Amino acid sequence: MDITFLLNGEVVSLSGISPTTTLLDWLREERGLTGTKEGCNEGDCGACSVMIADEQGARALNGCILFLPQIDGRHVITVEGLSAADGTLHPVQERLVEYHGSQCGFCTPGFAVTMATAHLNGARDHDTQLAGNLCRCTGYAPIVRAAEAAAGDPVPPHLASLSDFKAPHAAARAPEIGTESDTTAFQPRDVATLAEWYLAHPEATLIAGATDVGLWVTKGFRDLGPVAFLNRCEGLAGVEMTEEGWRIGAMTTLTTFEQALAPHFPSLGAMLRRYGSVQVRNAATVGGNIANGSPIGDSPPALIALGTRLHLRRGADRRSLPLEEFFIEYGKQDRAEGEFVEAVTIPAQPDTLRCYKISKRFDQDISAVCGCISITCENDRITGARLAYGGMAGIPKRASGAEAALLGKRFEESAIREAMTVMAEDFTPLSDMRASSGYRLETAQNLLLRYFHDMNGAQTDVRGVMA
Ligand SMILES: Cc1cc2nc3c(=O)[nH]c(=O)nc-3n(C[C@H](O)[C@H](O)[C@H](O)COP(=O)(O)OP(=O)(O)OC[C@H]3O[C@@H](n4cnc5c(N)ncnc54)[C@H](O)[C@@H]3O)c2cc1C
Ligand code: FES
Ligand code: FES
Repeated sequence: MDITFLLNGEVVSLSGISPTTTLLDWLREERGLTGTKEGCNEGDCGACSVMIADEQGARALNGCILFLPQIDGRHVITVEGLSAADGTLHPVQERLVEYHGSQCGFCTPGFAVTMATAHLNGARDHDTQLAGNLCRCTGYAPIVRAAEAAAGDPVPPHLASLSDFKAPHAAARAPEIGTESDTTAFQPRDVATLAEWYLAHPEATLIAGATDVGLWVTKGFRDLGPVAFLNRCEGLAGVEMTEEGWRIGAMTTLTTFEQALAPHFPSLGAMLRRYGSVQVRNAATVGGNIANGSPIGDSPPALIALGTRLHLRRGADRRSLPLEEFFIEYGKQDRAEGEFVEAVTIPAQPDTLRCYKISKRFDQDISAVCGCISITCENDRITGARLAYGGMAGIPKRASGAEAALLGKRFEESAIREAMTVMAEDFTPLSDMRASSGYRLETAQNLLLRYFHDMNGAQTDVRGVMA
């Protein structure tokens, strides 16, 4: 496979690469750029953070779970590219020194890159921006102080020009990848070509953001066999308003999804800001979060509570189904060979959605239980109830008994408590390292009560509740 990209301003063309080589490995082992560190090698620590720029802007990503074809046509800025050509440090680097933001220094390049990306984008929510970077010795206060101090400093000219992104192919040669004769690694440029190729190679692994697939390689040491990278596939990413509602392309990142939907469903936005980290959300896609069939993915319960329809495509054939019907049982989805997720549609609706992610840590943690609830009333009676949970079964699942118990009742605590009792029949959750079965069930029941209080104006955000 051949790719072309910009690395700290220089055009790089590579031929015959192994498609599952990670950017981190290539930078360190082939290029000698060892400023980008390897910590966890699974997207959790941010030591490998790189800045990636393209027509959509600049964002921080974890280089350890980013395969080389995913940077084709983009600009990669590593920590070595933050300072100016004359060696002048980037303002965030200056401030990290000034505010004593580094002790052993192992995490520092990753922090500097994430901070420089946030600085470039004018992001001031430093806690959120830095949640994906772990520091074991300095403590976050000096680092956040450095980020705050740098916020007022100008963006260095060599990075300011990133907003005027030019694809490196224009400066190099036309890309040769994406040809239909390439059977082991394919990077289609449009959905129709992808559909045709995948039908002919249904055994292939589709790679979207690689926040799951990346770990199969870096931790599972798996040989993926034939792969198709979806990142350059026109028409598979983006959010648009249609007559049926918001159509969200499978390759839409969690970042874009959150930005588009949070104004309409603030509770969904708040939950998505706790999905992984900035780096993970910049890579992970809505399609990947559904297609992986995980029972603890965060977006499926929210999408199910919103009455989302899933759009699948196999060759030229398309079909749609309610999202909950896609998940059959643990590890089994309603997806035929050669069929892929093209998009989802969320119907336009008033905002009655609340999303509750229960995990051991606030940031960067997988849910033990994720409850997403939407109840609608007419003339003082409950006319619609969608109670969707992750972590309660082998699949994301609705509490259908509890939903039925609510219909036709007044929206009052007695009806809620009755439905909570019925919910015990809906689920038989597992015990695992995240939570016991009993904890999961009691939590799921209590989330319904929390919803009731929430909708009646009580403060239920644990960070806002005062003694
Ligand atoms: C550090 C870290 C933190 C995380 N935190 C969270 C979290 O808080 N909440 C959460 O829900 N998840 C979390 N995840 C899991 C992961 O981010 C999600 O599952 C993600 O949405 C997967 O999307 P992706 O685009 O990266 O998929 P990929 O890894 O590229 O693919 C995942 C699977 O889906 C398939 N696939 C991808 N796109 C399609 C398509 N269009 N059609 C058919 N099949 C497709 C792939 O073949 C593969 O089987 C985390 C992961 C990491 C590494
Ligand atoms: S090395 Fe930890 S996130 Fe990449
Ligand atoms: S300075 Fe040592 S890990 Fe952050």
